[in-house]
This record gives sequence, C-alpha cells and structure tokens, in this order.
Amino acid sequence: MTVSRKQINFLRGWPTPGLLPTTLLSSASQRVLANQDEYTKMQEYGSCHGVTRLRKGLADWVGSHYGVTPNLERICITGGASQNLVCILQCFSDVNYTRAVWVVAPCYHLACGIFEDNGFAGRLYAVHEDDEGIDLETFDRQLQEFENQDKPNRDLKPFKQPSVERKLYRHLIYTVPTCSNPSGLTMSLSRREGLVRLARKYDGLVISDDVYDFLQWPLTAPVTPDRSAEMRLPRLCDIDRSMGPSDNDSRGFGHAVSNGSFSKMSGPSVRTGWAEASPPFITAIARTAATRSAGAPSQLCAAMLADVVENGQLQRFVDETVRPTLQRRHRLMMDAIDRHLSPLGVKARTSSLNGFETFGGYFVWLDMGGEVSTTFLAQVLKAEENVIIGHGQMFAVHGDEKRTNFTNSARLCFAWEAEQDIVDGIERIGQLLVRMKQNREHYLRLASTSYNIH
Ligand SMILES: Cc1ncc(COP(=O)(O)O)c(C=O)c1O
Repeated sequence: MTVSRKQINFLRGWPTPGLLPTTLLSSASQRVLANQDEYTKMQEYGSCHGVTRLRKGLADWVGSHYGVTPNLERICITGGASQNLVCILQCFSDVNYTRAVWVVAPCYHLACGIFEDNGFAGRLYAVHEDDEGIDLETFDRQLQEFENQDKPNRDLKPFKQPSVERKLYRHLIYTVPTCSNPSGLTMSLSRREGLVRLARKYDGLVISDDVYDFLQWPLTAPVTPDRSAEMRLPRLCDIDRSMGPSDNDSRGFGHAVSNGSFSKMSGPSVRTGWAEASPPFITAIARTAATRSAGAPSQLCAAMLADVVENGQLQRFVDETVRPTLQRRHRLMMDAIDRHLSPLGVKARTSSLNGFETFGGYFVWLDMGGEVSTTFLAQVLKAEENVIIGHGQMFAVHGDEKRTNFTNSARLCFAWEAEQDIVDGIERIGQLLVRMKQNREHYLRLASTSYNIH
C-alpha cells in the first residue's frame, strides 16, 4: 500500500505551537531590555549560580508547590535538564570510581547517550519497575550482587583530580519519577523513600529528571491551580533532605539531585532549567570550569523567565493553558484508544499514580499485545499509514536491552500533533491492526522476511 496521507507523528515529544507562550516572552523581553540596570547586567557574563531573581522566584514557587522551606542556596540555573546532566557527570562521576549507572526502564532514551558520551558506555544497567515504580527488592539485590562481583575494582584510583568541592559517587541512578517519559508512571511515596535509602546505602546519587512535575491534572475534573497531594509528591531531593546526613557523605552533598526544566512550560528553545540539591552540591555544579569561564547558561532567557515567574504570569500560563490543553489532548487520545484500539486487545496506562485519578506529562504507554514486535509494527505503520510511533525497544537501556522486554510496548505523545490528527492517527493504528488480524499470514511472513524484525 502506498502512502499519500499526511504524516502523523506520535514520536515527537515537543509542545504543540499553542503551548508556546510567545506573547508572554515577548513582553518579558521588552521589560528586561527596557531597564538599563537590568539589560546591561543580563547581556554581560552572569554569575555562576545564575540569575538571582530567577533562583529566588523558583525557590518560592517550588517551596509552595512541594511544601518545603524555600532556600536559594539549594538552586542554580542550568541550560536545561539535558545540559545539566552533563554538568552533574562532570562534577560527581568518574569513569574509574563510579562503577555503574542504573537506569529505570523503560527510560528516556536520549539520556543513555549522555551517559555514554561521558565514558559509561557498556556500564548502563536496567532497573525494573512495576505499577508503583522501582522494584526495590530486586534493585537492592542487583546492587549487592554488583558490589560482590566488582570487588577487584573497588580500589581503582579515580581518573579525575580529587577536589574538596566535589564528591564522587560509586553509583548513579537515573530516573524520571513523576509522569515518566516514556511510561507516564509516577513513583509512589514509599518507593521514593526506599530508593533514597538504597542510594544512601550504596553511595549512590539519584539523578531525578523532574521535568513534568508541574504538568499534572485530574483525569476528568476541571484543572485548577490547586493541586491535590498526589500531584505534589515530594521530590527525591526533598526526601533526601528530610533524612539528614548519611554515613557515606561526611561533607553533606546528599544523595539526590532534582533536574528541573522550563522546556515544557515556556518552550524548549529557552534552554533554561534549574538544579536543586544540597548547597555544596549546587555550588559544585555552579563551579564547573565551563560555568566559571562563561557564567551560568542562558543568562538572557533566565532574566526573561525571572520576570514572568516573579509576576506569576508563567504559573498562570501553566495552570490556565498548558495543563488544560494537555488534559484535553490526553482525553482525546484515551477516548480514541478506547474506541479503536481497546477492542483489539491494546491496553493503555490510564493514570500516572496507581490508585489515583491523575495523569501528567506528554506520553501514553501502550501494551499492544499482538504477535509481532512493536519494532515491526512501527515500520509497517509508517509504510502503510504514515503514522510514526515510538516502539518499546527504543526505551530499553542501551547495552542492557535483554534484561527488560518492551517488544510489545509503544509510546505515543499527545502534546505535539493537532487535536484532530491525534484522533485520526489512533484510528489509523486501529485500521492497521484490523488488517493485520485479517491478513495474519501475510504480516507474519513480512515480519520474518522483508523487515527482518520480529
Ligand atoms: C525525562 C526528560 N528529561 C529531559 C528532557 C530534556 O529536557 P531539556 O529540554 O530541559 O534539556 C526531556 C525532554 O523530553 C525529558 O522527557
């Protein structure tokens, strides 16, 4: 079948243009650039910790959201979550000393490459999760077994120069605990606490991409600025903070860092985010050599964001535009799935936090069932329906793909395509699944021959 239909892309994890706050940023830039005191400072090199007004605005915002005491010293401005992951690795990992990177699977696939670029290729290990989050017993066992067999490497000399301003961790743990990319899952409070305890026990650092925390909504009730407790679960860095000093950490760096981002709230192009952790941890990030040379990233955008965080416009945009838009799009996708895919045996995660009526983030995670892998399905969908999906194995941990099996899973983004295309795209997937059932032998043959993937 040849395709002439418009492409529908469920793989792209971008905000739809209506979620870009153009007017808001335009007026913020005019205010910043109209004020001579402000614009001169903002166009020069900035301080290492980043624009103070934004750090203060964020401390107040996250403080009231999570119910924690605002503390400017726990926050520095970054160039977004991806860029800051690199900074974290520069300061707190060492290819000799840091023995393993544990990645909760299915994972945000593009994070794997960042660890690999920093010397950890072949040392990424998948951590299994169930409907509540990380399976802690299995993870504890994995860590213990790893420690036992890794004994000969315990005394390897660190590759990097030791520094009193930094700490090297033996283990890194990468997770997206709230409305995860790709699974949509939110880790329960007890699993969060257990994870931090494991990080402390094994001298680990939890790197938590908290990029969807503010993007949560009730499944059916109208979106309001007030969020229920399950939409404000403590971050891993808050849990670590509440546990006080740990045995493996005499200098108080802590065992968890929150990697925040404006990408999903004010458009990814601002390339601005923030890190939150203990003050020594944050100072170390702020003093990476590149930041000392050039100042914190995204200085001018950070000044614009400081303006709209300080006057509350960004928070209102998130509550009045972003969350309701995502709620509506998610509903449209789920309704279309109920109509066109559920009768064919496809299952979708319906809520982010097990037992609660909430959802968040950008993605729906499907269990397609079926006899062929979603790797194959994705290829046929593109060829026959011009629909692009993220097939499950894309989100397996690089180098440890065999430990977890996502060959029946798929990720669909509801934030990018036009609303009608979301509905049409799901219908097209349904049409292909029906054809596959009706022409089973044909597609099984195709799966084992021309596409060579099953
Ligand atoms: C889990 C996760 N981390 C990081 C990013 C990228 O964040 P940033 O744009 O702040 O680099 C994304 C974007 O999709 C993401 O889903």
